[in-house]
Amino acid sequence: MTARIIDGKALAAATRAGLVPRVQALTAAGHQPGLAVILVGDDPASAVYVRNKVKACEDIGIRSLMTRLPAETTEADLLAHVARLNADTSVHGILVQLPLPRHLDAQKILETIAFDKDVDGLHATNAGLTLMGTPHFRSCTPYGVMKMLESIGYPVAGCHAVVLGRSNMVGKPMAMLLLAANATVTIAHSKTRDLGAITRQADVLVAAVGRRNLVTADMVKPGAVVIDVGTNRTPEGKLAGDVDFEAVKSVAGWISPVPGGVGPMTITMLLVNTVEAAERRRQAAA
Ligand code: GUN
Repeated sequence: MTARIIDGKALAAATRAGLVPRVQALTAAGHQPGLAVILVGDDPASAVYVRNKVKACEDIGIRSLMTRLPAETTEADLLAHVARLNADTSVHGILVQLPLPRHLDAQKILETIAFDKDVDGLHATNAGLTLMGTPHFRSCTPYGVMKMLESIGYPVAGCHAVVLGRSNMVGKPMAMLLLAANATVTIAHSKTRDLGAITRQADVLVAAVGRRNLVTADMVKPGAVVIDVGTNRTPEGKLAGDVDFEAVKSVAGWISPVPGGVGPMTITMLLVNTVEAAERRRQAAA
């Protein structure tokens, strides 16, 4: 058996195309969606991610405000910058690119963003609302994964979903969204014993650990849906996921590639959240 490919790039393109008329309607009504992106320091990978986000905004008519701050920026300066953006009614979404330099307390900074502008879904209020099953903004990567499952018509309800990884950005919210969709969810992580015994039970396996080739063919149930969230670099500098794609694709029923899988969907869901934020503002102002 060869797995069918979940084409995140195509799904992202279709989803973004669907946003264009919404952005146009908002803009015509004087509510052009605006996303502010803050990059602190000069991490080259973060710079690439941020550039991609800014370009994705511009491609569909969302206004983007990019701020680059030096690595030595103080907490007070960064908090003051976020506070200005919170007060700016032309800004609907605020994203602070992570990781931050070590002297800055990322969680404290994230909590300073107004929760109704937290289009990244990382504010404690948004994490809590997702936990309650009443999300305001879903964390972008897990949200994108749910859309990928939806796109293949996968019946998530009642399935056993195994999430590898327990980060606040991906693993935990992923588990909550799958649970809200009535999956039976197991979260596995670096301290989990006999990982393969657990992953082999998965009807849906989401790998979000950050370790290349962690998921091998013997760890996958035949026919399972395998979604690879990993973004690792090969020694040659190429992007690679957490899943041994070539081997696993002969066991799985569906598989998402890296690149071209989850990555484009993460940025797309950031755009979706930003457009939703602007639509809420427009409604509130009406
Ligand atoms: N760094 C890597 N991915 C992300 C993301 O989705 N949001 C933020 N804020 N930082 C990131």
